[in-house]
Amino acid sequence: PDMEQKVVLITGCSSGIGLALAVRIAKDEKKRFMVYATMRNLKKADDLIEAAGKTLGRTLEIKQLDVCDEKSIKACVDSIPNRRIDILVSNAGMGLIGPIECQTMEEMKAVMDTNFFGLVRLLQEILPDMKRRKSGHIVVISSVMGIQGILFNDIYAASKFAVEGFCESLAVQALRFNLNISLIEPGPVITEFERKVYEEGLKTDLTKADKVTADMFTNIYMKNYKQIFESLGQSPEDIAEHTLKIINAGTPPFRHQTNTLYTPMTTLKYADPSGDLPIDTFYKMVFEHDKVFNASLNFIKLLRWRSRKSFSLGKPQS
Ligand SMILES: NC(=O)c1ccc[n+]([C@@H]2O[C@H](COP(=O)([O-])OP(=O)(O)OC[C@H]3O[C@@H](n4cnc5c(N)ncnc54)[C@H](OP(=O)(O)O)[C@@H]3O)[C@@H](O)[C@H]2O)c1
Repeated sequence: PDMEQKVVLITGCSSGIGLALAVRIAKDEKKRFMVYATMRNLKKADDLIEAAGKTLGRTLEIKQLDVCDEKSIKACVDSIPNRRIDILVSNAGMGLIGPIECQTMEEMKAVMDTNFFGLVRLLQEILPDMKRRKSGHIVVISSVMGIQGILFNDIYAASKFAVEGFCESLAVQALRFNLNISLIEPGPVITEFERKVYEEGLKTDLTKADKVTADMFTNIYMKNYKQIFESLGQSPEDIAEHTLKIINAGTPPFRHQTNTLYTPMTTLKYADPSGDLPIDTFYKMVFEHDKVFNASLNFIKLLRWRSRKSFSLGKPQS
């Protein structure tokens, strides 16, 4: 990287948001960034290589980094000139859905280890350098589930809450060193994540759950899952645009939600300190007004489909 360029390190770039963001930043018109796009398994680099195109070897380099392995993190950081990382994007993560009585401790620990301790390990390696230089921006891909739990996402939401509590605590210290921390909070995003989580969900062994719970998972949660992604889901490119805006902001916000369709739900949380309002609302939405809920989702889907259509019609013909 030349001295003018900002060095960006992103984790989890084999697919989804990490891939889209790495490519978007590497293609910056003014070539303001040098991107180290990392992934745990370099055999999965084909999609990134294709999307990166001519930026590969210029403003984008691919490196190995497993957020669950300290040695791999250190080796990656050591391989970067002067170990200088100006912007760290902690994106690697995994999901898990289902009743907890049907999940193993191993599965749950893997989620915490990747989503939460993955970020902790990165910062153990990178934060001291940033403090010494008194400059740096830590951008964390969290989730709306980092501020609000969702039915059958107990462990995943807990892992993102952990991330948010960790960052909120650290943010005060970071200010002392002129460092910024930003949490990006997407709602549903259509990536491999969604597909993997859904397929794992279908495979859940529900024999350990009682009938009511098993039925709630299969006939309510899983049935609504696709519908929610189809009507409210954003693309990884959308999230990349939002994240770039936060990276470029003079005074970046601590939290940034990417999906305005979702904000009414998170607003309920802040509207009632007792916490009952969002819980009651979710309950009624799912169990009492399920028909209205489904109709609303369909209506949103239709509106978005129409606006996309008119948008593409409005574009100049190429
Ligand atoms: N999709 C959504 O609805 C959604 C919504 C809100 C927030 N998010 C968050 O967005 C982030 C990216 O997810 P995505 O939607 O882009 O999903 P994705 O397409 O599944 O990408 C996840 C990435 O994380 C990587 N990863 C997993 N474990 C890793 C490890 N130990 N070390 C390094 N990389 C690892 C995966 O690598 P492999 O290919 O090797 O598994 C993959 O590159 C996650 O933190 C997720 O929680 C997603």
